[in-house]
Amino acid sequence: MEANMPKRKEPGKSLRIKVISMGNAEVGKSCIIKRYCEKRFVSKYLATIGIDYGVTKVQVRDREIKVNIFDMAGHPFFYEVRNEFYKDTQGVMLVYDVGQKDSFDALDAWLAEMKQELGPHGNMDNIIFVVCANKIDCTKHRCIDESEGRLWAESKGFLYFETSAQTGEGINEMFQTFYVSIVDLCENGGKRPTVNSSTSFTREQADTIRRIRSSKDSWDMLGVKPGASREEVNKAYRKLAVLLHPDKCVAPGSEDAFKAVVNARTALLKNIK
Ligand code: GTP
Ligand code: MG
Repeated sequence: MEANMPKRKEPGKSLRIKVISMGNAEVGKSCIIKRYCEKRFVSKYLATIGIDYGVTKVQVRDREIKVNIFDMAGHPFFYEVRNEFYKDTQGVMLVYDVGQKDSFDALDAWLAEMKQELGPHGNMDNIIFVVCANKIDCTKHRCIDESEGRLWAESKGFLYFETSAQTGEGINEMFQTFYVSIVDLCENGGKRPTVNSSTSFTREQADTIRRIRSSKDSWDMLGVKPGASREEVNKAYRKLAVLLHPDKCVAPGSEDAFKAVVNARTALLKNIK
């Protein structure tokens, strides 16, 4: 049996699982849990000190699931406290604030911290990760859009949900899908169910969309040197068009990236004799 498979008393009936929350301080981890478990929202910030623990029971199909939730403090100060709690986990809720770019950029560091604490024999492939793009009610301050967040999550095989602990949007759907996925994983002997190839995309497609998003000008976007010839521009364009054409590419953000590439080509060709 896989190292972090949960113990169950009666096969097919009750199941005990452990989930943890991860993400920078103040992104809303505790509020998401509170919204789901207590159906309420607290607007005053009360930082989690080290770790908060709670137990809840949920029903998934015919099974009663006992969920042990470990809500971690995001502040670096509490690293020594939370590092004990990564092991024997079946589900991770990875949260960022859509209005705080730092909290999105920090997601990789959170995964690295978990990997380090699990050690060389730890296996993160048999854990369900759900990414919560939280505080979507704060539309004015939003700086990470859905396709950027979804691309990051789905390129890693993680679930992705847009949530607001304040309004409750997305919270129940997120937890329901999260728990169903964990139960599916447990029933599948600890292996993630294989992803349907028509809904997946390649790493090259994901990396290209990210590169296009962060390009500084049209030359950079097409990946050619400033002053490149018409032929060079057209060749680069064709390569990107094949990779990103919306008929062929299902990666989040591919449609916008494709449009941006078309516009970049048009703009460059206008000025090349
Ligand atoms: P640490 O425990 O320090 O790691 O923080 P945390 O991630 O648990 O954040 P917490 O849930 O305590 O929320 C931080 C602040 O954000 C609080 O003031 C919350 O009221 C607010 N907040 C949380 N979720 C939302 C949300 O969806 N929308 C809005 N507008 N505010 C939110
Ligand atoms: Mg907290």
